[in-house]
Amino acid sequence: MSTAVAGKGLEGIVAANSGICWIDGEAGVLAYRGIDIHELADHSNFEETTYLLWNGILPNELALREFHSHLTLARVLDQRIIDMMRAFPRTATPMEVLRTAVSALSFYDADEKDNSHDANVRKSYNLTAQIAMIIAIYDRLRKGLEIVPPDRSLSHAANFLWMLNGVKPSDTAVKTLDLALVLHADHELNASTFAARVIAATLADVHSAVTGAIGALKGPLHGGANEGVMRLLHVIDKAGADPVEYVRNMLAAKQKISGFGHRVYKTEDPRATHLRKMSEQLGKDSGQPKWYEMSRAIELYINADKKLNANVDFYSASTYATLGIDIDLYTPIFALSRISGWTAHIIEQLDDNRLIRPRAEYIGPAYPSHWVPMEERG
Ligand SMILES: CC(C)(COP(=O)(O)OP(=O)(O)OC[C@H]1O[C@@H](n2cnc3c(N)ncnc32)[C@H](O)[C@@H]1OP(=O)(O)O)[C@@H](O)C(=O)NCCC(=O)NCCS
Repeated sequence: MSTAVAGKGLEGIVAANSGICWIDGEAGVLAYRGIDIHELADHSNFEETTYLLWNGILPNELALREFHSHLTLARVLDQRIIDMMRAFPRTATPMEVLRTAVSALSFYDADEKDNSHDANVRKSYNLTAQIAMIIAIYDRLRKGLEIVPPDRSLSHAANFLWMLNGVKPSDTAVKTLDLALVLHADHELNASTFAARVIAATLADVHSAVTGAIGALKGPLHGGANEGVMRLLHVIDKAGADPVEYVRNMLAAKQKISGFGHRVYKTEDPRATHLRKMSEQLGKDSGQPKWYEMSRAIELYINADKKLNANVDFYSASTYATLGIDIDLYTPIFALSRISGWTAHIIEQLDDNRLIRPRAEYIGPAYPSHWVPMEERG
Protein backbone atom coordinates (compact mmCIF):
# COMPACT_ATOMS: atom_id res chain seq x y z
CA MET A 1 0.00 0.00 0.00
CA SER A 2 1.28 3.48 -0.87
CA THR A 3 1.62 5.73 2.16
CA ALA A 4 1.98 9.19 0.55
CA VAL A 5 1.01 11.88 3.03
CA ALA A 6 -1.25 14.67 1.81
CA GLY A 7 -0.62 18.28 2.84
CA LYS A 8 -2.90 19.96 5.37
CA GLY A 9 -6.42 20.38 4.01
CA LEU A 10 -5.62 17.88 1.18
CA GLU A 11 -4.24 20.82 -0.84
CA GLY A 12 -3.34 19.77 -4.37
CA ILE A 13 -4.55 16.19 -3.89
CA VAL A 14 -6.53 14.67 -6.74
CA ALA A 15 -9.11 12.51 -4.96
CA ALA A 16 -11.43 11.31 -7.73
CA ASN A 17 -11.83 10.84 -11.46
CA SER A 18 -14.69 13.00 -12.68
CA GLY A 19 -16.06 14.04 -16.06
CA ILE A 20 -18.21 16.86 -14.72
CA CYS A 21 -16.20 19.99 -14.03
CA TRP A 22 -12.72 21.22 -14.95
CA ILE A 23 -10.84 24.06 -13.29
CA ASP A 24 -7.49 25.57 -14.26
CA GLY A 25 -6.69 27.63 -11.19
CA GLU A 26 -3.63 29.29 -12.71
CA ALA A 27 -5.43 30.48 -15.84
CA GLY A 28 -8.79 31.17 -14.13
CA VAL A 29 -10.72 28.69 -16.27
CA LEU A 30 -13.88 26.91 -15.16
CA ALA A 31 -15.78 24.59 -17.48
CA TYR A 32 -18.81 22.33 -17.02
CA ARG A 33 -18.50 19.20 -19.19
CA GLY A 34 -15.83 21.02 -21.20
CA ILE A 35 -17.89 24.16 -21.88
CA ASP A 36 -16.37 27.38 -20.57
CA ILE A 37 -18.39 29.05 -17.82
CA HIS A 38 -18.29 32.36 -19.75
CA GLU A 39 -20.12 30.72 -22.67
CA LEU A 40 -22.67 29.19 -20.34
CA ALA A 41 -23.11 32.50 -18.54
CA ASP A 42 -23.73 34.28 -21.85
CA HIS A 43 -26.04 31.70 -23.45
CA SER A 44 -27.38 29.08 -21.04
CA ASN A 45 -29.83 28.98 -18.15
CA PHE A 46 -30.12 26.96 -14.95
CA GLU A 47 -32.30 24.19 -16.40
CA GLU A 48 -30.09 23.62 -19.44
CA THR A 49 -26.93 23.78 -17.33
CA THR A 50 -28.35 21.23 -14.88
CA TYR A 51 -29.22 18.92 -17.77
CA LEU A 52 -25.65 19.32 -19.01
CA LEU A 53 -24.18 18.51 -15.60
CA TRP A 54 -26.37 15.43 -15.12
CA ASN A 55 -26.18 14.05 -18.67
CA GLY A 56 -22.84 15.23 -20.01
CA ILE A 57 -24.28 16.84 -23.16
CA LEU A 58 -26.46 19.83 -24.00
CA PRO A 59 -30.13 18.89 -24.44
CA ASN A 60 -31.90 19.17 -27.79
CA GLU A 61 -35.23 20.99 -27.83
CA LEU A 62 -37.33 17.99 -26.91
CA ALA A 63 -34.98 16.85 -24.15
CA LEU A 64 -34.98 20.33 -22.64
CA ARG A 65 -38.78 20.48 -22.77
CA GLU A 66 -38.96 17.11 -21.01
CA PHE A 67 -36.43 18.27 -18.44
CA HIS A 68 -38.54 21.37 -17.65
CA SER A 69 -41.58 19.22 -17.34
CA HIS A 70 -39.92 16.76 -14.90
CA LEU A 71 -38.57 19.62 -12.82
CA THR A 72 -41.84 21.52 -12.63
CA LEU A 73 -43.82 18.35 -11.84
CA ALA A 74 -41.42 17.78 -8.95
CA ARG A 75 -42.59 21.06 -7.34
CA VAL A 76 -44.44 19.20 -4.61
CA LEU A 77 -43.66 19.33 -0.90
CA ASP A 78 -45.31 16.89 1.49
CA GLN A 79 -47.57 18.74 3.94
CA ARG A 80 -45.75 17.02 6.82
CA ILE A 81 -42.53 18.82 5.82
CA ILE A 82 -44.39 22.13 5.93
CA ASP A 83 -45.92 21.25 9.32
CA MET A 84 -42.47 20.35 10.60
CA MET A 85 -41.10 23.73 9.46
CA ARG A 86 -43.98 25.50 11.21
CA ALA A 87 -42.87 23.83 14.45
CA PHE A 88 -39.26 25.00 14.22
CA PRO A 89 -38.23 27.90 16.48
CA ARG A 90 -38.32 31.20 14.62
CA THR A 91 -34.66 31.62 15.55
CA ALA A 92 -33.75 28.72 13.24
CA THR A 93 -31.80 30.09 10.29
CA PRO A 94 -32.95 29.18 6.77
CA MET A 95 -29.75 27.19 6.26
CA GLU A 96 -30.37 25.12 9.42
CA VAL A 97 -33.96 24.57 8.36
CA LEU A 98 -32.88 23.54 4.87
CA ARG A 99 -30.40 21.01 6.27
CA THR A 100 -32.99 19.46 8.57
CA ALA A 101 -35.90 19.52 6.11
CA VAL A 102 -33.85 17.94 3.31
CA SER A 103 -32.94 15.11 5.66
CA ALA A 104 -36.65 14.59 6.43
CA LEU A 105 -37.60 14.59 2.73
CA SER A 106 -36.29 11.04 2.47
CA PHE A 107 -39.25 9.81 4.59
CA TYR A 108 -41.63 10.78 1.81
CA ASP A 109 -39.60 9.82 -1.27
CA ALA A 110 -40.63 6.44 -2.66
CA ASP A 111 -37.12 5.98 -4.09
CA GLU A 112 -35.32 6.61 -0.80
CA LYS A 113 -33.69 3.18 -0.56
CA ASP A 114 -33.14 2.67 -4.29
CA ASN A 115 -29.61 3.63 -5.34
CA SER A 116 -30.07 2.70 -9.01
CA HIS A 117 -29.14 5.29 -11.63
CA ASP A 118 -32.75 6.00 -12.61
CA ALA A 119 -33.90 6.38 -9.00
CA ASN A 120 -30.98 8.72 -8.32
CA VAL A 121 -32.01 10.89 -11.26
CA ARG A 122 -35.62 10.95 -10.03
CA LYS A 123 -34.46 11.97 -6.56
CA SER A 124 -32.28 14.66 -8.13
CA TYR A 125 -35.29 16.25 -9.84
CA ASN A 126 -37.23 16.09 -6.58
CA LEU A 127 -34.46 17.60 -4.48
CA THR A 128 -33.74 20.36 -6.99
CA ALA A 129 -37.39 21.43 -6.99
CA GLN A 130 -37.94 20.89 -3.26
CA ILE A 131 -34.88 22.80 -2.01
CA ALA A 132 -36.16 25.95 -3.73
CA MET A 133 -39.61 25.40 -2.20
CA ILE A 134 -38.27 24.80 1.31
CA ILE A 135 -36.27 28.05 1.28
CA ALA A 136 -39.16 30.13 -0.02
CA ILE A 137 -41.79 28.53 2.22
CA TYR A 138 -39.73 28.78 5.40
CA ASP A 139 -39.03 32.45 4.74
CA ARG A 140 -42.74 33.14 4.46
CA LEU A 141 -43.60 31.05 7.52
CA ARG A 142 -41.09 32.90 9.68
CA LYS A 143 -42.49 36.22 8.49
CA GLY A 144 -46.09 35.16 9.22
CA LEU A 145 -47.02 35.28 5.52
CA GLU A 146 -49.23 32.93 3.50
CA ILE A 147 -47.44 30.20 1.56
CA VAL A 148 -47.41 30.89 -2.18
CA PRO A 149 -48.11 27.77 -4.28
CA PRO A 150 -45.58 26.96 -7.04
CA ASP A 151 -46.28 28.13 -10.58
CA ARG A 152 -45.45 25.39 -13.08
CA SER A 153 -45.34 27.85 -15.98
CA LEU A 154 -42.27 29.57 -14.50
CA SER A 155 -38.57 28.77 -14.76
CA HIS A 156 -36.72 27.54 -11.69
CA ALA A 157 -35.36 31.01 -10.86
CA ALA A 158 -38.68 32.78 -11.52
CA ASN A 159 -40.69 30.24 -9.51
CA PHE A 160 -38.36 30.65 -6.54
CA LEU A 161 -38.75 34.45 -6.56
CA TRP A 162 -42.52 34.07 -7.01
CA MET A 163 -42.82 31.67 -4.06
CA LEU A 164 -40.51 33.87 -1.95
CA ASN A 165 -42.15 37.23 -2.59
CA GLY A 166 -45.68 36.41 -3.80
CA VAL A 167 -45.40 38.92 -6.67
CA LYS A 168 -44.45 38.39 -10.27
CA PRO A 169 -40.67 38.91 -10.39
CA SER A 170 -39.19 41.47 -12.79
CA ASP A 171 -37.30 40.22 -15.84
CA THR A 172 -34.13 41.72 -14.41
CA ALA A 173 -34.52 39.85 -11.12
CA VAL A 174 -35.17 36.55 -12.91
CA LYS A 175 -32.23 37.02 -15.30
CA THR A 176 -29.90 37.98 -12.48
CA LEU A 177 -30.85 35.05 -10.27
CA ASP A 178 -30.78 32.61 -13.17
CA LEU A 179 -27.25 33.69 -14.08
CA ALA A 180 -26.17 33.42 -10.44
CA LEU A 181 -27.57 29.87 -10.41
CA VAL A 182 -25.60 28.93 -13.54
CA LEU A 183 -22.41 30.33 -12.02
CA HIS A 184 -22.85 28.45 -8.71
CA ALA A 185 -24.04 25.14 -10.19
CA ASP A 186 -20.85 23.13 -9.86
CA HIS A 187 -17.25 23.50 -8.80
CA GLU A 188 -15.45 20.18 -8.95
CA LEU A 189 -14.40 18.74 -5.56
CA ASN A 190 -15.27 21.72 -3.38
CA ALA A 191 -15.80 20.82 0.28
CA SER A 192 -19.55 20.20 0.12
CA THR A 193 -19.36 18.14 -3.08
CA PHE A 194 -16.52 16.07 -1.65
CA ALA A 195 -18.63 15.50 1.48
CA ALA A 196 -21.55 14.42 -0.72
CA ARG A 197 -19.37 11.95 -2.64
CA VAL A 198 -17.92 10.47 0.55
CA ILE A 199 -21.40 9.88 1.96
CA ALA A 200 -22.80 8.54 -1.32
CA ALA A 201 -19.86 6.14 -1.64
CA THR A 202 -20.91 4.35 1.56
CA LEU A 203 -24.13 3.46 -0.31
CA ALA A 204 -26.14 5.44 2.23
CA ASP A 205 -28.60 7.33 -0.04
CA VAL A 206 -28.93 10.56 -2.02
CA HIS A 207 -30.77 12.42 0.77
CA SER A 208 -28.01 11.63 3.29
CA ALA A 209 -25.37 12.82 0.83
CA VAL A 210 -27.18 16.08 0.09
CA THR A 211 -27.89 16.69 3.79
CA GLY A 212 -24.17 16.34 4.51
CA ALA A 213 -23.34 18.64 1.61
CA ILE A 214 -25.67 21.33 2.96
CA GLY A 215 -23.96 21.05 6.35
CA ALA A 216 -20.58 21.58 4.68
CA LEU A 217 -21.79 24.48 2.55
CA LYS A 218 -23.04 26.32 5.64
CA GLY A 219 -19.54 27.04 6.97
CA PRO A 220 -18.05 30.54 6.59
CA LEU A 221 -15.00 29.19 4.76
CA HIS A 222 -17.33 27.78 2.07
CA GLY A 223 -20.83 28.92 1.05
CA GLY A 224 -21.43 30.81 4.28
CA ALA A 225 -18.94 33.43 3.08
CA ASN A 226 -21.55 35.29 0.99
CA GLU A 227 -23.51 36.12 4.15
CA GLY A 228 -20.24 37.12 5.86
CA VAL A 229 -19.54 39.64 3.07
CA MET A 230 -22.89 41.36 3.45
CA ARG A 231 -22.72 41.44 7.23
CA LEU A 232 -19.34 43.15 6.96
CA LEU A 233 -20.68 45.72 4.46
CA HIS A 234 -23.55 46.46 6.86
CA VAL A 235 -21.21 46.89 9.84
CA ILE A 236 -19.01 49.30 7.87
CA ASP A 237 -22.05 51.22 6.61
CA LYS A 238 -23.64 51.47 10.05
CA ALA A 239 -20.41 52.71 11.57
CA GLY A 240 -20.10 55.29 8.77
CA ALA A 241 -16.52 54.00 8.39
CA ASP A 242 -14.28 54.18 5.37
CA PRO A 243 -14.42 50.66 3.83
CA VAL A 244 -10.73 50.57 2.95
CA GLU A 245 -9.66 51.81 6.39
CA TYR A 246 -11.95 49.28 8.06
CA VAL A 247 -10.63 46.36 6.07
CA ARG A 248 -7.02 47.51 6.52
CA ASN A 249 -7.54 47.33 10.29
CA MET A 250 -9.09 43.88 10.01
CA LEU A 251 -6.15 42.61 8.01
CA ALA A 252 -3.70 44.19 10.46
CA ALA A 253 -5.51 42.26 13.20
CA LYS A 254 -4.96 39.07 11.14
CA GLN A 255 -8.67 38.69 10.45
CA LYS A 256 -9.88 37.07 7.25
CA ILE A 257 -12.15 38.97 4.90
CA SER A 258 -15.07 36.88 3.62
CA GLY A 259 -15.27 36.67 -0.16
CA PHE A 260 -11.50 36.73 -0.80
CA GLY A 261 -9.02 33.99 -1.47
CA HIS A 262 -9.42 30.55 -2.95
CA ARG A 263 -7.75 27.18 -2.60
CA VAL A 264 -7.65 26.59 -6.36
CA TYR A 265 -7.73 29.95 -8.19
CA LYS A 266 -4.46 31.85 -8.25
CA THR A 267 -6.01 34.53 -10.43
CA GLU A 268 -9.50 35.98 -10.82
CA ASP A 269 -12.31 33.50 -10.15
CA PRO A 270 -14.16 33.57 -13.51
CA ARG A 271 -17.49 33.55 -11.70
CA ALA A 272 -16.57 36.76 -9.87
CA THR A 273 -16.12 38.52 -13.23
CA HIS A 274 -19.83 38.05 -14.00
CA LEU A 275 -21.05 38.76 -10.49
CA ARG A 276 -19.05 42.02 -10.35
CA LYS A 277 -20.67 43.14 -13.61
CA MET A 278 -24.15 42.19 -12.36
CA SER A 279 -23.63 43.93 -9.04
CA GLU A 280 -22.49 47.13 -10.79
CA GLN A 281 -25.33 47.11 -13.32
CA LEU A 282 -28.01 46.38 -10.72
CA GLY A 283 -26.63 49.09 -8.47
CA LYS A 284 -26.87 51.60 -11.34
CA ASP A 285 -30.31 50.49 -12.51
CA SER A 286 -31.80 50.51 -9.04
CA GLY A 287 -30.22 53.83 -8.04
CA GLN A 288 -28.51 52.04 -5.10
CA PRO A 289 -24.85 51.81 -6.11
CA LYS A 290 -23.67 51.93 -2.47
CA TRP A 291 -23.04 48.20 -1.94
CA TYR A 292 -21.25 47.83 -5.26
CA GLU A 293 -19.10 50.90 -4.67
CA MET A 294 -18.09 49.78 -1.17
CA SER A 295 -17.32 46.30 -2.51
CA ARG A 296 -15.22 47.61 -5.37
CA ALA A 297 -13.17 49.85 -3.05
CA ILE A 298 -12.48 46.89 -0.75
CA GLU A 299 -11.61 44.63 -3.69
CA LEU A 300 -9.11 47.10 -5.19
CA TYR A 301 -7.41 47.53 -1.83
CA ILE A 302 -7.16 43.81 -1.03
CA ASN A 303 -5.96 43.03 -4.58
CA ALA A 304 -3.19 45.56 -4.25
CA ASP A 305 -2.25 44.99 -0.62
CA LYS A 306 -2.64 41.23 -0.21
CA LYS A 307 -2.67 40.00 -3.82
CA LEU A 308 -5.92 38.24 -2.97
CA ASN A 309 -8.75 38.03 -5.49
CA ALA A 310 -12.48 38.22 -4.93
CA ASN A 311 -14.16 34.81 -5.10
CA VAL A 312 -17.71 33.83 -6.12
CA ASP A 313 -19.13 34.94 -2.78
CA PHE A 314 -17.87 38.52 -2.80
CA TYR A 315 -20.11 40.13 -5.42
CA SER A 316 -22.98 37.69 -5.02
CA ALA A 317 -23.56 39.46 -1.68
CA SER A 318 -24.13 42.96 -3.14
CA THR A 319 -26.03 41.42 -6.07
CA TYR A 320 -28.54 39.67 -3.80
CA ALA A 321 -28.76 42.72 -1.53
CA THR A 322 -29.74 44.90 -4.47
CA LEU A 323 -32.42 42.35 -5.39
CA GLY A 324 -33.82 42.90 -1.87
CA ILE A 325 -33.04 39.39 -0.62
CA ASP A 326 -32.51 38.86 3.14
CA ILE A 327 -28.90 38.13 4.11
CA ASP A 328 -29.57 34.76 5.71
CA LEU A 329 -31.04 33.50 2.43
CA TYR A 330 -27.77 33.98 0.51
CA THR A 331 -26.21 30.62 1.46
CA PRO A 332 -29.50 28.74 0.95
CA ILE A 333 -29.61 30.30 -2.55
CA PHE A 334 -26.11 28.89 -3.13
CA ALA A 335 -27.57 25.47 -2.19
CA LEU A 336 -30.56 26.10 -4.48
CA SER A 337 -28.07 26.14 -7.34
CA ARG A 338 -25.35 23.75 -6.13
CA ILE A 339 -27.88 20.93 -5.75
CA SER A 340 -27.42 20.42 -9.49
CA GLY A 341 -23.67 19.82 -9.05
CA TRP A 342 -24.05 17.78 -5.86
CA THR A 343 -26.49 15.42 -7.53
CA ALA A 344 -24.37 15.19 -10.72
CA HIS A 345 -21.44 14.07 -8.56
CA ILE A 346 -23.55 11.66 -6.49
CA ILE A 347 -24.91 10.05 -9.66
CA GLU A 348 -21.39 9.82 -11.11
CA GLN A 349 -20.04 8.34 -7.87
CA LEU A 350 -22.77 5.70 -7.62
CA ASP A 351 -22.54 4.77 -11.30
CA ASP A 352 -18.99 3.52 -10.63
CA ASN A 353 -18.70 3.29 -6.89
CA ARG A 354 -15.91 2.45 -4.52
CA LEU A 355 -15.88 3.35 -0.83
CA ILE A 356 -13.84 6.52 -0.16
CA ARG A 357 -11.63 5.70 2.78
CA PRO A 358 -8.25 7.44 3.02
CA ARG A 359 -5.71 6.95 5.80
CA ALA A 360 -4.38 9.34 8.46
CA GLU A 361 -0.72 9.91 9.25
CA TYR A 362 -0.62 8.93 12.91
CA ILE A 363 0.96 11.61 15.13
CA GLY A 364 -0.35 10.44 18.52
CA PRO A 365 1.46 8.78 21.47
CA ALA A 366 3.93 6.04 20.56
CA TYR A 367 2.69 2.48 20.21
CA PRO A 368 2.62 0.53 22.41
CA SER A 369 1.53 2.83 25.23
CA HIS A 370 -0.17 1.00 28.13
CA TRP A 371 -3.28 1.22 30.20
CA VAL A 372 -2.40 2.07 33.80
CA PRO A 373 -4.54 1.64 36.95
CA MET A 374 -6.21 4.84 38.20
CA GLU A 375 -4.05 5.09 41.35
CA GLU A 376 -0.87 5.08 39.26
CA ARG A 377 -1.96 7.93 36.95
CA GLY A 378 -0.51 11.40 37.50
C1 LIG B 1 -11.13 30.19 0.69
C2 LIG B 1 -10.12 29.91 1.78
C3 LIG B 1 -10.80 29.09 2.87
C4 LIG B 1 -8.97 29.10 1.17
O1 LIG B 1 -8.19 28.66 2.21
P1 LIG B 1 -6.72 28.07 2.05
O2 LIG B 1 -6.47 27.58 0.69
O3 LIG B 1 -6.56 27.11 3.17
O4 LIG B 1 -5.79 29.32 2.25
P2 LIG B 1 -5.29 29.90 3.63
O5 LIG B 1 -6.42 30.16 4.55
O6 LIG B 1 -4.20 29.01 4.14
O7 LIG B 1 -4.68 31.27 3.13
C5 LIG B 1 -3.37 31.46 2.59
C6 LIG B 1 -2.86 32.83 3.04
O8 LIG B 1 -3.72 33.86 2.50
C7 LIG B 1 -4.37 34.56 3.57
N1 LIG B 1 -5.78 34.69 3.23
C8 LIG B 1 -6.51 33.79 2.50
N2 LIG B 1 -7.77 34.25 2.40
C9 LIG B 1 -7.82 35.40 3.07
C10 LIG B 1 -8.86 36.30 3.33
N3 LIG B 1 -10.09 36.09 2.86
N4 LIG B 1 -8.60 37.41 4.04
C11 LIG B 1 -7.34 37.62 4.52
N5 LIG B 1 -6.31 36.79 4.32
C12 LIG B 1 -6.56 35.69 3.60
C13 LIG B 1 -4.23 33.67 4.78
O9 LIG B 1 -4.30 34.39 5.99
C14 LIG B 1 -2.89 33.03 4.56
O10 LIG B 1 -1.89 33.95 4.87
P3 LIG B 1 -0.56 33.48 5.63
O11 LIG B 1 0.10 32.51 4.68
O12 LIG B 1 0.16 34.76 5.84
O13 LIG B 1 -1.02 32.81 6.89
C15 LIG B 1 -9.56 31.22 2.37
O14 LIG B 1 -9.05 32.02 1.33
C16 LIG B 1 -10.61 31.97 3.16
O15 LIG B 1 -10.77 31.71 4.36
N6 LIG B 1 -11.35 32.94 2.52
C17 LIG B 1 -12.42 33.62 3.20
C18 LIG B 1 -13.68 32.78 3.20
C19 LIG B 1 -14.29 32.68 1.82
O16 LIG B 1 -14.48 33.65 1.12
N7 LIG B 1 -14.68 31.45 1.46
C20 LIG B 1 -15.34 31.18 0.20
C21 LIG B 1 -14.44 30.46 -0.74
S1 LIG B 1 -15.16 30.34 -2.36
